[in-house]
Formats: sequence, C-alpha cells, structure tokens
Amino acid sequence: KIITWDASAASKEGYAHYMLKEIHESPRAVDDTISGLISDIEDVKNAIKILEESKRIIVIAAGTSYHAGLYFSLLLQREGFNVIPVIASEYYNIKTNQEDSILAISQSGETYDVMIALKEFKANGSKIISLTNVIDSAIARQSDVKLYTRAGPEIGVAATKTFTSQIAALQFLYSLIKGDDYTYLNKAKDVIRRSLDFEGEAKLIGEELSAKSNAYYLGRGLSLPFAMEGALKIKEITYLHAEAYAAGESKHGPIALVEKDFPVVFINLGELVGELQNNVQEMKARKAKTYAISVNEKLNTDKEILLTVEDERLSPFAVTPIIQLIAYYSAVKRGNDPDKPRNLAKTVTVG
Ligand code: G6P
Repeated sequence: KIITWDASAASKEGYAHYMLKEIHESPRAVDDTISGLISDIEDVKNAIKILEESKRIIVIAAGTSYHAGLYFSLLLQREGFNVIPVIASEYYNIKTNQEDSILAISQSGETYDVMIALKEFKANGSKIISLTNVIDSAIARQSDVKLYTRAGPEIGVAATKTFTSQIAALQFLYSLIKGDDYTYLNKAKDVIRRSLDFEGEAKLIGEELSAKSNAYYLGRGLSLPFAMEGALKIKEITYLHAEAYAAGESKHGPIALVEKDFPVVFINLGELVGELQNNVQEMKARKAKTYAISVNEKLNTDKEILLTVEDERLSPFAVTPIIQLIAYYSAVKRGNDPDKPRNLAKTVTVG
C-alpha cells in the first residue's frame, strides 16, 4: 500500500501552471482511485458495514472536500440514509455518540479543523472512516478504516484532480451501498477526456467572467455541490466574488442584485432540467448574462457548454473539469498566479 511519488511527476511537463496540468491528470487520477479501492476492497467493505450499521452518518470536511462530502450526502439521503454533512470547523453544532459513524474527507489528511472535529467525535465513541489522498496521513491514522484517493501529489493550491478523485471514490462507495454494478465508473476517465476537449469554450467563459466583479453559480439537487465548487474555485484564484445558491432559493433574496449583464452560471447535471430552465428565464427577465454547463439537455442560456454522457451517473465527471477550467482561465486572464493564490495555503494545519 506504500506509494512512492517520483520527483519528475512534480514538474509542469509543458503546462503553463500546475493547476492546468493537474486538471489534465484527472482521467488518470480517477482511474487510479477506482482501481486502488478495488485492490483495498476489504477496507471498502468494512467502511460500508460501518456506514450501514450506524444510526446517523456524519460527513465532515473543509473547502473543496466539503463539496465532495455534500454530494455524497445528497446521494445517500436520497436512499433514505440519515446523513448530516458538517463543515469541519462547525463541528460543535453536533453531538455524536457510539451509534454514529463519521466520514472524514480531506485531500491532505492534515486539515486542523477536521482533526479537531475527529478528536471530539472519537471521544464520543463514534466510528471513524477517512478518505484522504495522502497515505497514512494524520487523519487516516485517527481512523478505524482508512480509504484513499490516488490522485498523486497535487501542487496547485486549489484542489482539482483530488476533488474529481474524491467524487469517484464516493460514487464507488455509494454504488456498492446501493448494490449497483460499479463498472460504469471505468468510463469516468473517458467522460473527463471528452470534457477537456471543451477547453477553448471554458476559456472563453472564464475570460468573460474575469472582467466581472460578481457572479452567481446556481444548481439544483445533485448539481448544487458542483455549483458551490465552481464558485469556490473562482473566489480562490480569480478573487471574483462568486456565490453559489440553490437555484430555487435564488429568488428569495439573491435575485435582488441581478441587473443587466450580471453573470449567472448554471450547473446542470441533467436532472431537474425543467425547474432549472424556469430559473434561467427568471434571470433572463432581469437581463442577466446567463451561462450553463449542461449535461444531455440544454437550458438555453446565452452561452452554454453542452456535454453528453450515456449514463447520467457520470455527469459529475463531465461538469467538473469545465468548472475548474473556467476558474483557471479567469484567473490567468486577470494576471493572477492560479497555483499560488494570495492568502491561501494548500494545507491549513492551524485553527
Ligand atoms: C485549504 C485549501 C483548500 C482545501 C481545504 C481542505 O483551505 O486551500 O483548497 O479544499 O484546505 O483541504 P483538505 O486537504 O482537508 O481537503
């Protein structure tokens, strides 16, 4: 289980930035993650047993990892599981006990906020499962079951391939919990590769956004965590004020800001499309500049990237590279260094 990372993997290999290189590494990262979990299937089964036997599942994470956790939580909630996604630094709002299981998600496996939450939950007797990208990380060592993404080292501060790998790992777990065949995930890498072919279109959207000072990212259902991740990426590296909202909720306040040319980016994983189309109309009626990253069905926004997948369970792998590329190109257009955003650290080991 020991993985050695060779130094040459740490060079940019002709890409302008590590972030861009790492986005392009996502197909391989996702594939390695799935095959790694298959080779660690006993750990995966132990994790599933713990999750299934617990009264509540608490999913804790920070930043980008929280968005992966939120997506997993929605999938399980739809199956009737009692799942509570918790932002790690807000752990004090929940009192866990021996009947709860905890799923801690962290790329670095060292995030202080997650460590503190785990310490508390562990003291309460809850069972801990971790999903980290660093083998034997501090968070893994605190866990009853250690699961790993195998994205390889990520140098860009903003998480890209590690997020996509978390989504793959969590979807693998979810498929096993549901008793579904998981082999559809073998196609995730091809779905990502096809999305990377839309790099030019993503660049155009990113460059348009770079000239703005505010943006909304809207989604519904399973699309919402990806809207949140899209907005976070933009904030992190473009320093543009981007907010994500549940599309239906946007009329309860946020729409007050919308005026001519206000950018609104819709994320559409291919579900709840009629409802999303209504939200697009609400925004168009206020003369917003509307964008969509859509899977299989169009929303008819001013600009739209339409991706197609045979199996909609793979929609996250279509949308994710595009939201990352949009942020990347908007940051570059502003002259920012996307690999080293101001005020941020790759791993936050302080409270
Ligand atoms: C930092 C990084 C974020 C990251 C978050 C959680 O704030 O800047 O990009 O998402 O930590 O990191 P983790 O290693 O726990 O996934």
